[in-house]
Amino acid sequence: MLRLENLTMVVGDNHGENREIIRGINAEFVAGKVYGITGPNGGGKTSLAKLIMGIYMPSQGHIYLQDQDITALSISERAQLGIAYAFQQPPRFKGLTVKDLINIARPGIDNLHLRSTLRDVGLCPEDYLDRDVGPGLSGGEMKRIEIAQTLAREAVVSIMDEPEAGVDLWTIQKLIAVIVGRYKRKPDLVTIIITHNENMLHICDEVLVLEDGMVVHRGTPEEIWPHIKDEIECKMKEMCSGEMAYEIR
Ligand SMILES: Nc1ncnc2c1ncn2[C@@H]1O[C@H](COP(=O)(O)OP(=O)(O)OP(=O)(O)O)[C@@H](O)[C@H]1O
Ligand SMILES: [Mg+2]
Repeated sequence: MLRLENLTMVVGDNHGENREIIRGINAEFVAGKVYGITGPNGGGKTSLAKLIMGIYMPSQGHIYLQDQDITALSISERAQLGIAYAFQQPPRFKGLTVKDLINIARPGIDNLHLRSTLRDVGLCPEDYLDRDVGPGLSGGEMKRIEIAQTLAREAVVSIMDEPEAGVDLWTIQKLIAVIVGRYKRKPDLVTIIITHNENMLHICDEVLVLEDGMVVHRGTPEEIWPHIKDEIECKMKEMCSGEMAYEIR
């Protein structure tokens, strides 16, 4: 369904030097599966999502959706083909209401679906439909509205960038249930969840670990978990020269 071929992205750093932040990624995402992408901060997860959405353009490589080369297509062309992306840091739009935003995501959405989409992310439609998507919303509220508009899209490929970030624990559990209900084992859909949350990772069929712009591990959550754990332990040992710097009481 979605295929990345030798995807590479080069950016200029502060010293005028080029740096590869995505390094020759080859990956296939097949319909009917929920994928997790995880890995350390700065590993390239958001950049990869933005490349798929067309927000960033690759320096090399190709992106195929259902065997169509979409590498040169714009964001809106990719959105029309059915790719949706929920930002890690959602943009705010002063003067636009929550209702407007979801209507843009899903033109002609009926009132029942509009309201149920907000309930799915733990927001009461009564309180939020007419709220401005501006600075008056908290970070967690903004994040939930971003996810709601992605759910409303009912896209063929849905990418959610750290949907759990800044969201309270109760809503994370609810969100996991909604993601399972809407996306798990749906034969025509590809779902990609970028996450650091263990519970989110465990609902995925397959997990890719991205580090330093490359896929360093790929497998089921059970296969991947020991690698992630080792990585964390190893980094701690490096930081503390093999000893814990302080005791946790
Ligand atoms: N537009 C850009 N210009 C320059 N450097 C960039 C750009 N976008 C990302 N980077 C750099 O590329 C690297 C990967 O960033 P990215 O945001 O993709 O990481 P991430 O895996 O999503 O991290 P996190 O877990 O913190 O969200 C980082 O070092 C970042 O500073
Ligand atoms: Mg990120």
